[in-house]
Amino acid sequence: MPRWRHACVLLAALTSLLLAIILIRTVTLSTPKCTVHGRGERIKILTPPKIDEDYLEFISTLVQAVTIPTVSNFQHVYNTTAMSEFTAFLHKSFPTIFSHNLVTYETVAEYSHLFKVQGLDSKLTPYLLAAHLDVVPALPEGWEFPPFSGTHQGGFIYGRGTLDDKQSVVGILQALEMLLEEGFSPKRTFYVAIGHDEEVGGLDGARSIGMLLSKRNISLDFVLDEGNLSLTSCLPYTSIGSSEKGFLTIKLGVKQKMGHSSMPPRETSVGILSRAVSRYKPQKLCMLHKIQFSFPLRIILSNLWLFSPLVARLLERTPLTNTLVRTTTAVTEFHAGIKSNVLAPVAEATVNFRIHPAQTVDEVLELVRHTIADERVNITMIIAMEPLPISPHDDTAVGYMTITEAIQETFPGMLVAPGICIGATDTKHYKGLTSALYRFNPIWNSPTDLLRYSPR
Ligand SMILES: *[C@@H]1O[C@H](CO)[C@@H](O)[C@H](O)[C@H]1NC(C)=O
Ligand SMILES: *[C@@H]1O[C@H](CO)[C@@H](O)[C@H](O)[C@H]1NC(C)=O
Ligand SMILES: *[C@@H]1O[C@H](CO)[C@@H](O)[C@H](O)[C@H]1NC(C)=O
Ligand SMILES: *[C@@H]1O[C@H](CO)[C@@H](O)[C@H](O)[C@H]1NC(C)=O
Ligand SMILES: [Zn+2]
Repeated sequence: MPRWRHACVLLAALTSLLLAIILIRTVTLSTPKCTVHGRGERIKILTPPKIDEDYLEFISTLVQAVTIPTVSNFQHVYNTTAMSEFTAFLHKSFPTIFSHNLVTYETVAEYSHLFKVQGLDSKLTPYLLAAHLDVVPALPEGWEFPPFSGTHQGGFIYGRGTLDDKQSVVGILQALEMLLEEGFSPKRTFYVAIGHDEEVGGLDGARSIGMLLSKRNISLDFVLDEGNLSLTSCLPYTSIGSSEKGFLTIKLGVKQKMGHSSMPPRETSVGILSRAVSRYKPQKLCMLHKIQFSFPLRIILSNLWLFSPLVARLLERTPLTNTLVRTTTAVTEFHAGIKSNVLAPVAEATVNFRIHPAQTVDEVLELVRHTIADERVNITMIIAMEPLPISPHDDTAVGYMTITEAIQETFPGMLVAPGICIGATDTKHYKGLTSALYRFNPIWNSPTDLLRYSPR
């Protein structure tokens, strides 16, 4: 065989080998499934190669934090006994922070906490790390382990707040405690802000902290707050929330004349409303996961050893404009009827929207009117928040780059891209202090973990 033919055969062989590897990896990549085996918020604790005192102390501190039922129920309504207890717990668990001469501490709105750690270079603009100590209520029954037990079993700690957001409170403060013990002093000044009512809007805690800093004319280089549960073992990439969806709740109402069901008019109020509502289909989180695993994407994601430069470039460019992530809708309530043989005079439905940063509240309202296109349906706005602006995420954004470097140092090989955070956070209360708001939670999870939040 001539030499060029040898080369061709070799090339063909190599190509088929490459294709085979790509295919095998694609087919064997496990897709996350949306079935839940147990109930109860829980956090996976990675075991370090050497189990030392710091590790055991972290576990025990997080467990204690979870056992204090710092529940917030409604705006301005929360378990104040538990919140006072939590303050005492912080003082007991982090003695170095509270006594260190670089740290200034104050309580804000009684149960929230603000720490300032003085940096060496006062010319650098400070940043702020945020977290919240309150949790949503939990029924006592229906869980694998009682919700405030803080059970540590099988590599997990179970309980309300393990993912949202006591792991951040304890994580940030434990790290600071250890660093200060080692004699660390930061170059750049930073704040740690722990709110106590994030789950009901943060109107008392984070909002007061934001107003306090603003009154002192402090501007921040960036804010880092809780975000999506960001790491899954199936995907070697993660995203930093550089924007946050807004929300809108509207009420749809139809009023028709009363009438007996034996002589129904051509269209009833329930009929009219049903037709309006049926134009909206609820979207589930799991659907997003399914879409994300369509075949070409699957090929690419399961072969990052080959495609990672391409993926990094794509991710840098597309997530914020990605059509997969858009404004989502859910019909949450439907009220009609007073008696089984009387036509309902009034029918009402409540619809929630999570608004993509590329849209505004007004645009969504306009879209609703346009979609329903029925003047008999009365549209009333109940509550709304505009999506938060997109924070800088290029090479010159100090915050974005700092967080990215920290992620890649901790999880070597991890690809990082900007993304949109779906849940609401406290960052809205800091938006007057900086244009750089980031959300990130370095937590390993599977899609099913999100479904464990409510009891069976
Ligand atoms: C409030 O918290 C305390 C503990 O700090 C607890 O004993 C009490 O049961 C809680 N109250 C409610 C209504 O859950
Ligand atoms: C903040 O800035 C304003 C306007 O520049 C000034 O009037 C005010 O005194 C400043 N307040 C503080 C606490 O520095
Ligand atoms: C947060 O999760 C949603 C739903 O899974 C996803 O669409 C979005 O891209 C995620 N954002 C970030 C910043 O990870
Ligand atoms: C529409 O809703 C508003 C606010 O709830 C209410 O005042 C008004 O009476 C409603 N109109 C009709 C025709 O139902
Ligand atoms: Zn939270």
